[in-house]
Formats: sequence, structure tokens, C-alpha cells
Amino acid sequence: MAFPENFITELIERNDIVSVVSEYVRLTRRSGSNMFGLCPFHSEKTPSFSVSPDKQFYHCFGCGKGGGVINFIMEIENLSYPEAVEFLARRAGMQMPAETNDAESRKRARMLALNRDAARFFYEQLSAPAGAPAREYIGKRRISPATARRFGLGAAPDDWGILLNAMEKKGYTAPELFSAGLARRGKNGGFYDTFRNRLMFPVIDVRGNVIGFSGRMLGDGEPKYMNSPETLVFNKSRNLFALNLAKKSKSGYIILSEGNIDVVSLHQAGFDCAVASLGTSLTPEQARLLSRYTNEVIIAYDNDGAGIKASQRAIGILEKLDLKVKVLRISGAKDPDEFIKTRGPEAFRNLIENSENQIDYRLHAVTSKYDLSVDEQKVEFLKEASDMVAHLPGTVERQVYAMRVASMAGVNTDVVTGEVERRRRKLINQARSTEEKKLLRPGRAGASGGSAPGYDDPASAAAEEGLVRLLYLEPELASTVSLPEAGEFSSPELGRIYSALRTKAEAGESVSTASLTDALSPEDMSLLVGLLQKPEILSNSRKSISDYINKIKDRRELRADSSDLRALASKLRQSKGYEG
Ligand code: UTP
Ligand code: MN
Repeated sequence: MAFPENFITELIERNDIVSVVSEYVRLTRRSGSNMFGLCPFHSEKTPSFSVSPDKQFYHCFGCGKGGGVINFIMEIENLSYPEAVEFLARRAGMQMPAETNDAESRKRARMLALNRDAARFFYEQLSAPAGAPAREYIGKRRISPATARRFGLGAAPDDWGILLNAMEKKGYTAPELFSAGLARRGKNGGFYDTFRNRLMFPVIDVRGNVIGFSGRMLGDGEPKYMNSPETLVFNKSRNLFALNLAKKSKSGYIILSEGNIDVVSLHQAGFDCAVASLGTSLTPEQARLLSRYTNEVIIAYDNDGAGIKASQRAIGILEKLDLKVKVLRISGAKDPDEFIKTRGPEAFRNLIENSENQIDYRLHAVTSKYDLSVDEQKVEFLKEASDMVAHLPGTVERQVYAMRVASMAGVNTDVVTGEVERRRRKLINQARSTEEKKLLRPGRAGASGGSAPGYDDPASAAAEEGLVRLLYLEPELASTVSLPEAGEFSSPELGRIYSALRTKAEAGESVSTASLTDALSPEDMSLLVGLLQKPEILSNSRKSISDYINKIKDRRELRADSSDLRALASKLRQSKGYEG
């Protein structure tokens, strides 16, 4: 989505990078004009994360991440570019530009505001007299006031119209509450509150919007939970409960559980990376959402038949996205909540540390299908287990599991290893053609991610960096020289940065990391900010810029010559009958 330039400029002016960063990082040291703190993007003991108030960008000398204020929010809040823009607009109290402000999005915004007000109302009721039963229930479930606050838990009083009344006083209409799922329509055409006498869990999306509610009965009874229906802003299958909190976790994995209560309990015990699917089994959309924030998911479903089945389904969905999956085996308790309450957080951490990876888990599942004391079944087990092991990517891994399978079946390891390798060869043969296709596809340049790439032609790259730096610092120079094409660059990443910069400079638009955020990937942005840290002497910038350009062109010719030579050599080899 393209935002008007003046909107972005104002957004940046009203979100000073030092004050934005300070909400997440304690900037303790000052050196020259830069401020330093501990990098939020990698773990470190001495500060190497710098923020420049003058240049309005951040750069970590440790991990190489860097960018303007929009990048920072994208990175730390895990948001896309438009989401980060919206986030900062809200922070600065700015209206989003008119073009995104059509009837549909106005309706959405209104419903989100209503949801937010309703959440606030429920939250306040929790400390009001009408909230006493919910308060008692929270205590009974051993949810602390701090945890309740963290999740914005609330109380829906035992009343048919208290929310309707309160929201009408705020200017919302009953039909608006109806379309948000907060009110229902009675037989006589009147409206009444949907949620009554329940403990309220607001469902908050990754942007911080209250999109719906889940209300639990204060005790036993049916239905245990009542959820917001699908609305303009609520889609159960595309959201996860508590992902708004878990996405900020530093743990490096996400715990996927079934129940809201489990999630609350896990967070309270220090596992701030727990989420739950909203009363549905995991959907592919939810898995994709998870994969934006982590590459490892630990499944902690209920310890019953349904939970085991659901785990297996979830494994399949998560693995398709190349996520590492582990499965917790919770014994002696029916769910994570009960486990933590009876055994304590440390025991749960042990469970995580000893959690079975999906291989163990699946091996278990295969084993449980057969009676290994019956010879025919043992053979079937060996076939199925060997096939599973053959699919494992690592040689050592295959060896280890082949041994395990062998000992389970009480046969010689060689038997299993042989079977596994036979199946493995078959797999490789089938895969060869697709693998070859993969190799032929051009790889992503500089896939090192974040830190400076290894340049193919360092001499040219130094000049390319210099040109980028000059153009950034003095975009006016663009009109004084004849600029090379990005294709003449030796480094594709510098070429990309250069062409984004050049477009802005030639259009006379303002050049800043923030205004370039939309045009550059986070990796390219980090590279740009990194190279802006190197000094550039501006006193004779007109001469420098043409020196850089000449250098780039010279190197380009040299490379062209040598590639001609290589082509020639290979042609000669072919004509002599060698293979190329
Ligand atoms: P559970 O019955 O396991 O609930 O359902 P829970 O949250 O763990 O609560 P406790 O510990 O038994 O009190 C798991 C999830 O399934 C959804 C809810 O999202 C719930 O958190 N669910 C359950 C419903 O949507 N409706 C229901 O009637 C029951
Ligand atoms: Mn449960």
C-alpha cells in the first residue's frame, strides 16, 4: 500500500525515533551524538545498539539490524509495513489517509472502537460490585490480578442490558452492538446483551485491536464458552488467542495450547509465548500466522483422546510450513493449566526441555498401532517405521532412529538401517528432478540476512557503497552527474538500494530511512543503515561522486571481459569434446 509522501513525512516527524525506541529499550549511554542501549533484537551484555537522534535511525553494531522508525516498529512489533504505519499513526493520534478511509474501513474502525470500549467496560466491571462472581472465579482459578490486567480480562455481569446501556451512553446504537456480536435480538424485536454472567477474554489481534470476545461460564454448565460470532473484524480461523502477547516473547518458540485458561496460566507461570486457537482445531491460516513469528512450535494440547488427535492434525499443518514441531506429553494432569498448578512451572519447563520432537511423537504413534509380539505385525511396524525414518533429512538422525526402531522391534540394527537406506534411495530418485529445478532457480542474493553480504567484487562494491552513501546524504547530487544503471552494480543488494534511492532523489522527494522503508526489504534496509555508519567526506562530494561512478564503470568492464573469457574457455572445452 502506498501512502502519500507528506503523510509519511508527518508520521516520522511526530514519532521521534528516540522516544519510540525508548518505549522498548533503555538508552543508557551517550557517545557523540548517538545514544546506546542493549539491542532488543539479539541478546547481549554490553550495549551495541545505537540510535541517532539527528539521522533518525537505529543501528546495531552487534547484529547489523538497522533502519528508521517504521522499520523499528515493524521489527519489534512484528508488523508489516502498512501495519507499522497504522501503529505509529495511532501512537501520534493521526488520522489515516483518506484513500484507505472508505465506507467499509470506516465501519471496521467503528466496530473496533466499540469492541475496545466494551472490553474496557468489562474490565471495569471486574472491580465493580456486579463483577463479584467473576472476581471470585478468577481467584478460584488462581489467576492473579496482574495476570488479569495483562490479558484485559473482564466481567460480564448477570444482566440483560448493562453493556447495551453503557455503550448507548457512549453513542453506539443497538444495531451496531448487534453486528459486533455483542447484542442479540429477542423475539419481540428488542436487543439484549450476548454475554451475561461470564468471565470475559478479549481477543486481541497482532496489531493490538480488540476483534472479539470469548466468555467463560463462572463454573460448570453448557456451553462452557461463548464466542463472538464472525463479524466484519473477527475471523476465528485467522487469529490466535494471546498472539498479541506471545509475538513479543524472547523464547524463540511458541507454545500452542487448546484452552484460554491454559494460555493465561502459562503466561502467569512465565511462559509468555503461549497461544491458543480460538476453540477450533488449528487452521492453515493460523499456522501461517504463527510462521510469521517463530520457526518452532511446541504443541501442548489436552491430555485426552481429542487432544492427541488434534496434535496429529496440527503437526501435519505446521510441518507443511517448514516449522519445527515438538509435542509435549503431559502426564498426570488433564491440561497445561492443571499440570502447572499441581507440579509447578519448573516441572513444565522440564517437559519443554524433554519434549519429544515430532519424530519421537510419530514413532510412538506408529508403535501404538501394532502389537510387536506378533511377528506379522512386527514386520508391518518395521516397514512403516523405516519409511518414516527414511524421510528424515540428516544422516545421523536416520542412524539414531534406525537404532531405536530396531531395539523396539528387537531386531538387528543392520536390518533396519538397510531397509531405511533402500527406501531413502528410492526417495532421492523420485526427488531428483524437483531438486534439480530448485538448483536451477536463481538463489536469493546475499542470503546472509542482516549482516553485510560477502561481495563478489569488493573493489566495485566499495565504490557502490560510496555512491549510495553520497546519494543518501546529498540527494541533490543526482542532478549533477550521469548516474549509472543499477544493473551495472556488482552487488544486487546495493543495486536495489541504489535504485530505490535514485528514484526518490530524481523525483526530488525527501530521502530518509523512514521514507525508504516501503521500498526496501528489512535486510536491504539494515545494509543501508550499516553502510551509512561509515564516514563519507562531503567537502568535495562532486568529485567523489564521479570517482565512484568511474570506478563502478571500470569494474563493470573488467568483469564483462573476464566473463567473456570464461565463456570462451568453456566453448573451447566443448569443441575439444570435454564436458562443460
Ligand atoms: P476447554 O474446555 O479445554 O476450556 O476448551 P479451557 O479454556 O481449557 O477451560 P477449563 O480449564 O476447562 O476451565 C478449549 C477451548 O475451546 C474453546 C475455548 O476457546 C476454550 O478455551 N471452547 C470450549 C469453545 O469455544 N466453546 C466451548 O463450549 C468449549
Ligand atoms: Mn482445557
